[in-house]
Amino acid sequence: MEPFRFHLFVCTQQKPEGVQSCSAGGSAAVLDALDRETQGRGLNHDVQLTTCGCMGLCDEGPVMVVYPEGVWYRRVQPADVAEIVDTHLRGAKPVEHLVWNDAPAMKAMAVEHEEKFHAAMAARDKGGTLPDRLDQMIRGYMPSRCLLTALELDIFTAVGDGANAEQIGAKIHANVRAASMLLNALVALGLLAKSGDDFKNTPESARFFVQGSKDNHRNGLLHIANIWHRWSTLTDAVRTGTRIPIKRDETPEWTRAFISSMQRNAKDRAPLVVKAVGTAGVRRILDLGGGSGAYSIAFAKASRDVRCEILDLPEVVALTAEYVDRAGVAAQVTLHAGDMLQDDFGSGFDVIMLNAICHMFSEEENRDILCRAHRALAAKGRLVVQDFILNPDKTGPQHAALFSLNMLVSTDTGASYSEIEYTDWMKAAGFADVSRINLPGPSSLIVGQR
Ligand SMILES: C[S@@+](CC[C@H](N)C(=O)[O-])C[C@H]1O[C@@H](n2cnc3c(N)ncnc32)[C@H](O)[C@@H]1O
Ligand code: FES
Repeated sequence: MEPFRFHLFVCTQQKPEGVQSCSAGGSAAVLDALDRETQGRGLNHDVQLTTCGCMGLCDEGPVMVVYPEGVWYRRVQPADVAEIVDTHLRGAKPVEHLVWNDAPAMKAMAVEHEEKFHAAMAARDKGGTLPDRLDQMIRGYMPSRCLLTALELDIFTAVGDGANAEQIGAKIHANVRAASMLLNALVALGLLAKSGDDFKNTPESARFFVQGSKDNHRNGLLHIANIWHRWSTLTDAVRTGTRIPIKRDETPEWTRAFISSMQRNAKDRAPLVVKAVGTAGVRRILDLGGGSGAYSIAFAKASRDVRCEILDLPEVVALTAEYVDRAGVAAQVTLHAGDMLQDDFGSGFDVIMLNAICHMFSEEENRDILCRAHRALAAKGRLVVQDFILNPDKTGPQHAALFSLNMLVSTDTGASYSEIEYTDWMKAAGFADVSRINLPGPSSLIVGQR
């Protein structure tokens, strides 16, 4: 039984450079074209597109199979996709010149491929070759560093609608020889295209990295570029047990990129938090370390009756004010410049939020914040902690375990914590009905009631 009229499997297997594979033959572009064409013709609910690994027919790739008929196509190119969609998916007739139906030859090729593959793997293993997975992990910083440097130099904006290395080098005030090397590497990474001497942005780069584009993420991503420098101190931080201050830390530009990055993370999550917490009976919210104000803004927009107070560091609240004003909710949101480790929180709040806060502090600091939050809540008021929560043995999820190191290199005493730790601290602070709410994505809520 097929839940769809057609189920398409497209091989997107990647292989080491120089080895024939469907991905090297352009299967990603084929997949994109299939997605576009099936959507464009209103077939998206009838056709299931699935990527798959190597089928052993790599020399004839990109390879795809259409079920329920079991029709195999080889050497498919994006230009073939419209014909496949019209003739096969709409007209129920396979595209003959792409069909591969020589079953004995196909089977022989697949068997030979499998035998060669196992022999090559066995030879590598015997020779003590470093597995690809480890090799890629070791070198993983190289593509990342290229993209971060391109963002720091604002290369994608300089490329604009197309330019050569000299023009781009002049715009970003860079050495032309070195800029050419970076531009070529960005082409190799699929982030730029090159035609003759001219470089062009890919649609993705133009959308996400160019100043002026509606979906430009550069400002927030510069925070990742900034913390890359902190991660370079990881070895010494592990030796000494805490962060190693670096020169470029926490300038006004650093803070602006940080808060922009926080806003980028929070803007999609905030409505989910509002939904999980609800606004019934909620009048006063305290948003500790509110950053861009994304969560207070979402609550204010969800209910005209809600009033939010954001406490954040003096250098941040000026930026928070910009986001709150832009969202048009300034009448519902009050800003306080201060220090949550020292300042009195006030009293009578229905909800206190700690979104992405506890990971900055030690267990003792968090216990103290939770006790003071408990006192600042009205009867039956709720504390909402949002964070990346570790499993009990702290080895996962991967994002939370890596984020703990992000806090090691960024803070004096911060870390990721487990659900058991949060629950213990909240119960010790006097909270009842402590429970966890998982959100889509890497963070969860721990909620307790006074
Ligand atoms: C990781 S960000 C989270 C921002 C926001 N809650 C969110 O989730 O988007 C941490 C925030 O806490 C603020 N912060 C750090 N230390 C603080 C302190 N001692 N007192 C008040 N705010 C602080 C930072 O300025 C920053 O806005
Ligand atoms: S890589 Fe696609 S069939 Fe082998």
